[in-house]
Amino acid sequence: MKLFLDTAHLAHIQTAHDWGVLDGVTTNPTLAGKEGLAFSDLVKAIADITPGPVSAEVVAEGRDEMVAQAQELVKIADNVVVKVPLTREGIAGGAKMTELGIPINVTLVFSPAQAILAANIGATFVSPFLGRVDDVGGDGLALLREIVDIYAVQGYGTEVLAASLRHPQHIVEAAKIGADVATMPFAVMDKLFNHPLTDIGVERFNQDWEAYQQSLRK
Ligand code: E4P
Repeated sequence: MKLFLDTAHLAHIQTAHDWGVLDGVTTNPTLAGKEGLAFSDLVKAIADITPGPVSAEVVAEGRDEMVAQAQELVKIADNVVVKVPLTREGIAGGAKMTELGIPINVTLVFSPAQAILAANIGATFVSPFLGRVDDVGGDGLALLREIVDIYAVQGYGTEVLAASLRHPQHIVEAAKIGADVATMPFAVMDKLFNHPLTDIGVERFNQDWEAYQQSLRK
């Protein structure tokens, strides 16, 4: 399972890239709005850090306007993937984009039926929002499982990108279910490293190494 960051914060993207674990980045208008940079400059700066796919969302409402925006977005860098919402206009625009060879990520997906639409227009990624389903008393992981199962039965080429993940266990369960990608906030990726026994183990090994070196000097 590939690991993406769900952020537009350049320092966090650089850190995850330097860790060697960053496979791509997803952004959305809310995340972009926090960074104080023009959107095209922001997307360019993200794409300069990671060679992996960088999702940039269209914000137009009509199909043709979305396609026009998408054509501008993909000029920013070779690894830009255009995010389209799962609305009628978004799917119509996304279908046109895939026809034009523009890779798309269908976002704001909350049902298996919607995920079928995304696969049928040849999306590169489909993004079910697990955390937001959980927020309204649903079962985000069950949604993910249904989509992964349907895609396997149908042999769809669209990659399932588990989104709106809130904690490390979401990542573990998404991997067990068979998601192709998990996108997460920086704080969640950072937590994937943590285990108290690792910290205790490192400290003990360092102490033992020091004692060993001292014993050689005697
Ligand atoms: C995915 O691409 C979205 O940007 C994201 O995962 C939304 O997450 P949120 O529900 O935490 O805002």
